Amino acid sequence: MKKIEVCLSPELLRHYEVAHKTVVVIDILRATSCIVTALAHGIEKVVPVAEIEECRAYQAQGYLTAAERNGDHVEGFDFGNSPLAYLDTDLKGRKLAMTTSNGTLALTMAKKMGAGQIVVGAFLNRSALLQYLRDHAREVLLLCAGWKGRVNLEDSVFAGNVLDELLDKFQFSDDACGLARSAYYLGKKNPTRFLADSSHFQRLKERGAMADIDFCLTPDQYDLVPVLQGEALVRLD
Ligand code: MLT
Repeated sequence: MKKIEVCLSPELLRHYEVAHKTVVVIDILRATSCIVTALAHGIEKVVPVAEIEECRAYQAQGYLTAAERNGDHVEGFDFGNSPLAYLDTDLKGRKLAMTTSNGTLALTMAKKMGAGQIVVGAFLNRSALLQYLRDHAREVLLLCAGWKGRVNLEDSVFAGNVLDELLDKFQFSDDACGLARSAYYLGKKNPTRFLADSSHFQRLKERGAMADIDFCLTPDQYDLVPVLQGEALVRLD
């Protein structure tokens, strides 16, 4: 059986081997939910970058840009980090560069460490991701973006959901798998209520982003898996 592991924070990534694995980057609130939504609504590719200045450099090349820090839209960029911003606009064929507090950091970190393959997971593309991991993937590392090095609940719950679904195909290989799966079971009946006291849920709620939260927690809206090819995430249908 192939192995599956969970890294609960990018700060722990140095303890994991990534070279021959499919790394699934997870930032439910909200970076990976945004990436899935943007690609589903016509964006051709998304370039994740760690720094604001890197993102700004893409503006000169005709890219749309998205920048978030501490949950807020950074001034001077087309988008912040609300997935809802990608629903109504005509984005077909446009390219997007994106920087966020944790999600794009996890993506660039996995790339820098030489991950065999990098894909993006969210509730919004859960079934497509599960199918992809069942059919194609090598060993899997679920990388939770967390919050500034700390573990967060929503990414852990989603990792637990993925683990639970893949039990027949993969062997759990560390205790973090058990933790994540237990968190998923605790919140399974009502994920929104379960997550309501969590830190980033509260942070976004204070910013009036409850509609973003509801959207990001909705499973199976899009049948695509973003995969990193070169510097950009593109959709794999
Ligand atoms: C992040 O990358 O930390 C997030 O997606 C933050 C946010 O909710 O905008």
